[in-house]
Amino acid sequence: MKDLEDLKGVGPATAQKLREAGYVSIEMIASSSPYEIAETTGLPIELCKNIVEQAKEEIRIDVISGYEMYKIRQKIGKITTGSKKLDELLGGGIETQAVYEFYGKFSSGKSQIGFQLSVNVQLPEDKGGLNGGVVFIDTESTFRPDRIVEMAKHQNLDPEEVLKNIYVIKPQNSEEQIIAVEKLDYLLKDKNIKLIVIDSLTSHFRADFIGRGSLSDRQQKLNKHIHNLQRYAEKYNIAVYFTNQVMENPGIMYGDATIPIGGNVLAHAATYRVYLRKSKDEKRIARLVDSPNLPEREVIFRITSQGVSD
Ligand code: GTP
Ligand code: MG
Repeated sequence: MKDLEDLKGVGPATAQKLREAGYVSIEMIASSSPYEIAETTGLPIELCKNIVEQAKEEIRIDVISGYEMYKIRQKIGKITTGSKKLDELLGGGIETQAVYEFYGKFSSGKSQIGFQLSVNVQLPEDKGGLNGGVVFIDTESTFRPDRIVEMAKHQNLDPEEVLKNIYVIKPQNSEEQIIAVEKLDYLLKDKNIKLIVIDSLTSHFRADFIGRGSLSDRQQKLNKHIHNLQRYAEKYNIAVYFTNQVMENPGIMYGDATIPIGGNVLAHAATYRVYLRKSKDEKRIARLVDSPNLPEREVIFRITSQGVSD
């Protein structure tokens, strides 16, 4: 979907007026009355009529039959995490056409699971993989090729081949991250990519938008970014795995006050949401907190020298 600035007659100043009045997307403009927009923004009515008309033309309604949908859903593939317990929690592994958020404190295992999936997706189907490649978006500079080598050897895969099938992108800020994802189409098409990892989704956004004034701007950008990921998951039959940082919710006095950052926008971004906690030594606890079809429960897995296991 285009930005407000893509409408004819809408420059930066007009776009700002519209956004400040709450008309943040083409969809919102298309579904509003020009008179209402003129009144709340102070923009001339002729301009408002014109942009509502343009916005309506921009909105495409995609129709597919239930049968087509059924055929598309039949193509869903699964990637093993390396732990049977964790796979079970997720209903048999990480699925394509879905988006997964794993959040938790430092050392809880978010990055390790991202690495393990990047190796496992390259396994043949009878071993829990999809014979596919990976796009790894490394925003925290924590991607470790040597760890991939270790995990690949344990799976009896050729470490060099495994590394060659992982396309690493290192965006330096949120703007670069957004653009990198917008430009992924060609890679996803040409390289048989079956998994996108983003570790982490939020750190650049958190650093680049500081202060309350910029919060709505951040949420808008994040929202669009996530929509792009969801679109890829369906369009190319890909699994999307992203990690997220946490903060303490000051409103909770008792029990675990750890919540993922990103507010409302992220709360609905992922198809499945998993909360990771550190336990003793190698042990980690995974809790499925949000899923369209599976119960909320916890399992224990391990992170060992060989990778993610039971
Ligand atoms: P942050 O990115 O700091 O928020 O943490 P994270 O959740 O991404 O943690 P990560 O996945 O990096 O997990 C780190 C934990 O995995 C460490 O505390 C180690 O216990 C384990 N780990 C990481 N690398 C190795 C390794 O090469 N060998 C072994 N045996 N364990 C490792
Ligand atoms: Mg990490």
